[in-house]
Amino acid sequence: MAETVLDYEAEAAHYDRTRGGVPRAEAAAEAVLRLVPPGARTLLDVACGTGLVTERLGRPGLRVHGADAAHAMAKVAAGRVPGRTVRADARRLPLPDASLDAVTAVWLLHLVPFATDVVAEAARVLRPGGVLVVTVDKDAAHDVGSDIDAILRPHRSQGRAFDRAELITACAADHGLDPAPGTFFTGHGQGATPRDTVRKLRAGYYASWFDGDRAATETLAAELTALPDQDRPRADPRYRLESFVRRG
Ligand SMILES: C[S@@+](CC[C@H](N)C(=O)[O-])C[C@H]1O[C@@H](n2cnc3c(N)ncnc32)[C@H](O)[C@@H]1O
Repeated sequence: MAETVLDYEAEAAHYDRTRGGVPRAEAAAEAVLRLVPPGARTLLDVACGTGLVTERLGRPGLRVHGADAAHAMAKVAAGRVPGRTVRADARRLPLPDASLDAVTAVWLLHLVPFATDVVAEAARVLRPGGVLVVTVDKDAAHDVGSDIDAILRPHRSQGRAFDRAELITACAADHGLDPAPGTFFTGHGQGATPRDTVRKLRAGYYASWFDGDRAATETLAAELTALPDQDRPRADPRYRLESFVRRG
């Protein structure tokens, strides 16, 4: 699982505590469910992580499953969604064609250079009329309007983001998925601090902006370090969810 900047085998132990915990998971699940038609009977939450969102996707008549590529994440999720969690790569789901009413992927596509393969695989397992719900433009949602944003925005290369909405929408169309209404959810506890942003910058989280140019990274780190209130989180972001319906 070395295909993402973060090592989710190691992240599992502190993931819930650092990703907004229950308030963020509730907001995400509630928003996702708004986009899942009332008649849906089966839902697979791809890249389910620790299952904190997945376990909140249940509603009467809807059977929810989870899948994640990282052993450690899937193991935690299995405790929350027992008997219905598998370790699986989002590009190769162990399911027949046209077998699901809904596929969801919260906070996955921005991480993976093969986001379009994930969309194609979701289209394969969805039955006609089934829905795909995914987060898009995830990193663009961060720090909007804050002093951190004022420093980062000129360097953000959303044009290269793996989960940019127009790329995902075009790919979805190529695989028989038509656009449907989207929505937003609040990333409770996800407002960045300057200190944490510097840590992420140095850890390579934004490396694609600079093509690995360390000097540019350190210039930005110095500007962020000069900001006041180094440990005060800025406003919580609002994350965008898009949905798509499988053509008949
Ligand atoms: C940011 S977490 C999101 C977890 C969960 N959806 C949530 O909102 O809390 C990203 C997850 O994607 C998983 N992941 C990364 N690449 C994957 C892949 N190719 N197939 C399935 N899961 C993957 C990671 O293991 C991690 O659990």
